[in-house]
Amino acid sequence: MKIAGTPYRTIWPAGPGVVRVIDQSRLPFELVTLDLKTLEDAAHAIRTMVVRGAPLIGATAAYGLALALRMDASDQRIEEAASTLRATRPTAVNLAWALERVRGVISPLAAAQRYEAAIREAGDICEADVEQCRSIGMHGLEIIRRLIKPSGRRVNILTHCNAGWLACVDWGTALAPIYMAHNAGIPVHVWVDETRPRNQGASLTAFELGAHGVAHTVIVDNLGGLLMQRGEVDMAIVGSDRATARGDVCNKVGTYLKALAAKDNDVPFYAALPVSTIDWSLEGGSDIEIEERSALEVTEVSGRTAAGAIGKVRIVPDGSAALNLAFDVTPARLVTGIITERGVCEASREGLLSLYPERRLRA
Ligand code: MRU
Repeated sequence: MKIAGTPYRTIWPAGPGVVRVIDQSRLPFELVTLDLKTLEDAAHAIRTMVVRGAPLIGATAAYGLALALRMDASDQRIEEAASTLRATRPTAVNLAWALERVRGVISPLAAAQRYEAAIREAGDICEADVEQCRSIGMHGLEIIRRLIKPSGRRVNILTHCNAGWLACVDWGTALAPIYMAHNAGIPVHVWVDETRPRNQGASLTAFELGAHGVAHTVIVDNLGGLLMQRGEVDMAIVGSDRATARGDVCNKVGTYLKALAAKDNDVPFYAALPVSTIDWSLEGGSDIEIEERSALEVTEVSGRTAAGAIGKVRIVPDGSAALNLAFDVTPARLVTGIITERGVCEASREGLLSLYPERRLRA
């Protein structure tokens, strides 16, 4: 996607032993890139959310494993590097998926071949993610087309957190259908949940929609229910960090409440996700580990002052406790459909298996 006319991806190789990423902790106020050269650089970038979003976490972990092997590609080094990366963030299954994919390719090779092979595999993971997101966009576009009104009124879509191209390598998951619709001339407008506490909606989703010229309005997380009651939401699309084999969908905290409101108001509620986000080993969402992050993210808010300084201010009384669980699980019964790179299915074991029949043999 483009920022001010320049095409970008979120991550790309930038020379021997260098992987470049957009530093998302500086957006929307500064567009800055950061070079990752070591395992520690990659682990730090994931842990501190310089990069974030399930598919991008996976892509960065794949490159991080490769970078770890530049000087030492022994079996022991692979094990240590994979376990360091796996511990950076627990909820998005794309991380473990990407590490396993790279390990599967390099483990049978001689040590001297492993670094180059790992870099190639990380690149392949990125290319595949771009294609999968493009396909998700095309499938989701068909759903949006069905919502076009004869009056020509805009199609209002609500989204939570950032599941756009900044969360992936390009295009995004939940936002890909919206970009496709916009590019096709459909008048779409996006209600962007700000997504407390880290405000990925306000900072990142608004930034990337704006950069692409998509009409959008940032709303507080609690407004979606009222907008749905007023008929001002035609559909909701969210991304996911881990979907279970029976179609429960884990995503940024607050997603579940939007799904409940959508159900009560007959608003179609879709989750858009690539195959790397499906955890076939889990049936129910309650088994997913929910990341708990620093309470400071709740007690403090960061932003830019009118004078241009970027900083944090405290909004909670000293001494008040704060709890920061970063994800929640929306049960399949509240999900109208799952949009994947292979098409749209019911949120159920049978629905997912209809798109991924090869998993039936292993189920
Ligand atoms: O904590 P984050 O910013 O990594 O959370 C991101 C989300 O919750 C996204 O909705 C999810 O990863 C889907 S990304 C296409």
